[in-house]
Amino acid sequence: MNNLIVLGAQWGDEGKGKLVDLLSDRFDVVVRYQGGHNAGHTIIVGDRKFVLKLIPSGILHPGKSAVIGNGLVVDPIALVTEIDALEAAGVDVSRQLRISNRAHVLLPFHRWMERLSEARPGKVSIGTTSRGIGPCYEDKAGRRGIRFGDFVRYDGFEERYESMRREKLTELNAFDLVDELDPAFDDRVERHRYRKIAERLRPLVCDTAGLLNREIRDGKRVLFEGAQGTMLDMDHGTYPFVTSSSASAGGACTGTGVPPNKISGVVGICKAYITRVGGGPFPTELHDEVGEHIRKRGKEFGAVTGRPRRCGWFDVPLLRYSAMINGFDSLVITKLDVLDELEEIPVCLEYQVNGESVEDMPESSGDVAKVQPVYECLPGWNSSTFGISEYSQLPAKARDYLDYLEKVTGVEVGCISTGPERTQTIIRKGSRFEKLLG
Ligand code: GDP
Ligand code: IMO
Ligand code: MG
Repeated sequence: MNNLIVLGAQWGDEGKGKLVDLLSDRFDVVVRYQGGHNAGHTIIVGDRKFVLKLIPSGILHPGKSAVIGNGLVVDPIALVTEIDALEAAGVDVSRQLRISNRAHVLLPFHRWMERLSEARPGKVSIGTTSRGIGPCYEDKAGRRGIRFGDFVRYDGFEERYESMRREKLTELNAFDLVDELDPAFDDRVERHRYRKIAERLRPLVCDTAGLLNREIRDGKRVLFEGAQGTMLDMDHGTYPFVTSSSASAGGACTGTGVPPNKISGVVGICKAYITRVGGGPFPTELHDEVGEHIRKRGKEFGAVTGRPRRCGWFDVPLLRYSAMINGFDSLVITKLDVLDELEEIPVCLEYQVNGESVEDMPESSGDVAKVQPVYECLPGWNSSTFGISEYSQLPAKARDYLDYLEKVTGVEVGCISTGPERTQTIIRKGSRFEKLLG
């Protein structure tokens, strides 16, 4: 049994897409377990670039199965847009992709509700991706949602759609916000579009929990692809500046229907520094030219919204917390090359408040915003690591940096990424990471 969870250890955009794409060769099935098209997973293959939002990154490997698990909220229009782009690039989507009949359908009024909710006076802005993710999960938890099984059967879908839409309009009216609705939205045309999409997707929709468990029983290997990151997890992240799903390891079970005793390891992906998009506390955030340098070199602009990502130093207390929540067996450190030109690299070793060290990750976002990071400064290596694929070829000071991260986080660094392409990766020989790959 060698089924592995690969997920973001920080605030998202750690390079999950690149890693999952790279590892897909060694697995039979790749499954996404939460989130929706708020995710943007970038994969570079030669001179081609793919940004996958809903479809697992394994789809780019011919013959591998890609599964959208029950834990996702799926906008059918966003999904067919993604399918069209992959088919145009020669991917055999209808053979490789399956969608859970229990995944929830995200509809246009979820986006309205979100836009208006973020605009409500006095509301703390989360800085969401404006895709309607939160409101769709709200309907799921409120037991009002429409699931993919219902959608593709289409029996009664239009009536349920209409009644949900009317419900939302009533709510918007109550807040006197209805005038702000998207005037370009023509409901009749949209519903006709959904009928066509339902017909097209019907053959891809099935009981994916049954499918995955049968595959595992037959000795096939499953890779679980996380979206977002642990600090955006609805329970364990910096609430309320989080997404509305379980991005951490526990979500892999609830979001797919595969039990925990069928999963053999958890790998955390983190950058050699850290970034965050949207609002919320960020103890090691840089507001100076060094932050700007990292943003430029790392091309730190959102893959979904194009927003500049906030950049900061590697945060050890955050990583230790993330390792505790997820039980990391190994870490992948990505974007090491982005730090190549720095004279020195501070690492946040602990949080303090009024000179006292803070032992646990504060529960309140307000308290996280108040901590003082205490840094240890490591020397930079001032030479290029870009594209290096052998550990021994890394400059000594870059190896020292990685050894240091391993020591202070308490988790092995099993893999290092030195560029966006598949080949620009180091898998450390003899590591637990290498063993987990089998
Ligand atoms: P994800 O959401 O976790 O899949 O990450 P994103 O795709 O949103 O953001 C990661 C970005 O960094 C993408 O543009 C990747 O192509 C790029 N990337 C991944 N690994 C590396 C690396 O090691 N070095 C550099 N320079 N870029 C990388
Ligand atoms: P990947 O999978 C980075 C952030 C948003 C916002 C918060 C809530 O590419 O790493 P939402 O639209 O989910 O309700 O927004 O979460 N966010 C992400 N940040 N990477 C992501 O996905 C994200 N998905 C959501 O910026 O702060
Ligand atoms: Mg991303």
